[in-house]
Amino acid sequence: MKKIICDNYEESCRAAADIFTEQLRQKPESVLGLSTGSTPIGLYAQLVSRYNEGKIDFSRATAFNLDEYYPIKQNHAQSYKTFMEEYLFSKVNFAQTHIPNGEASDVEAECTRFDAELEAAGGVDLQLLGIGTNGHIGFNEPAVTYPLGSSLAHLSEDSLKSNARFFTKGETQPTTALTMGVGQIFAAKHILMLISGTNKTEITKKLFEGKLHTDVPACFLLLHPNVTFVMDKAAAGV
Ligand code: GLP
Repeated sequence: MKKIICDNYEESCRAAADIFTEQLRQKPESVLGLSTGSTPIGLYAQLVSRYNEGKIDFSRATAFNLDEYYPIKQNHAQSYKTFMEEYLFSKVNFAQTHIPNGEASDVEAECTRFDAELEAAGGVDLQLLGIGTNGHIGFNEPAVTYPLGSSLAHLSEDSLKSNARFFTKGETQPTTALTMGVGQIFAAKHILMLISGTNKTEITKKLFEGKLHTDVPACFLLLHPNVTFVMDKAAAGV
């Protein structure tokens, strides 16, 4: 386990972008697992500017996103598909991108399709993760059991509250989502968790307390052979 504590959010995004840059330098055809939320926005901006400067190339890389609200129109302003197009996909040159389809009529078939695509791609080389204030990863919420493969997740009160800020009044906020399973996340060769801000200090403290809290899905990462936590001082509480 590697822990990198940066002075501020911008520095942490730079450190995470360095890891992506090195990954693609070493293996241009990498499969990159990507996440959404506020935290990766600065990282994606870094990747876009490095791409514009010719310092990083995604032309042989494949992206798999962790999750998507369900049901949601792909072109909905708050879909993760729209988010990824806006912050990254429309601005760089990925060979292929994959996001669970929030418009799929058959949830089970969609999960099977997504899992098969991920398996055919050979799994994830570098998986970016954020952390929910309750410790969720993707949309794997605190629970007694955790799905290994993709599934339909019921968003916790905590996640609904945290993400309500993105939905305008009158807009229906989905209460379920399609998410990669804990098993698929754990199967990534390298996991990079980016943590930022004072609203994450409490969960970060719990994560590094030296105990495996089974109700904090992010704690499973502590057992992964190749995980890097990049955080700013605010999240680290120092
Ligand atoms: C979202 C996503 C997660 C993300 C997390 C934290 O709901 N499903 O993949 O890591 O919550 O988001 P933020 O960075 O906005 O705190």
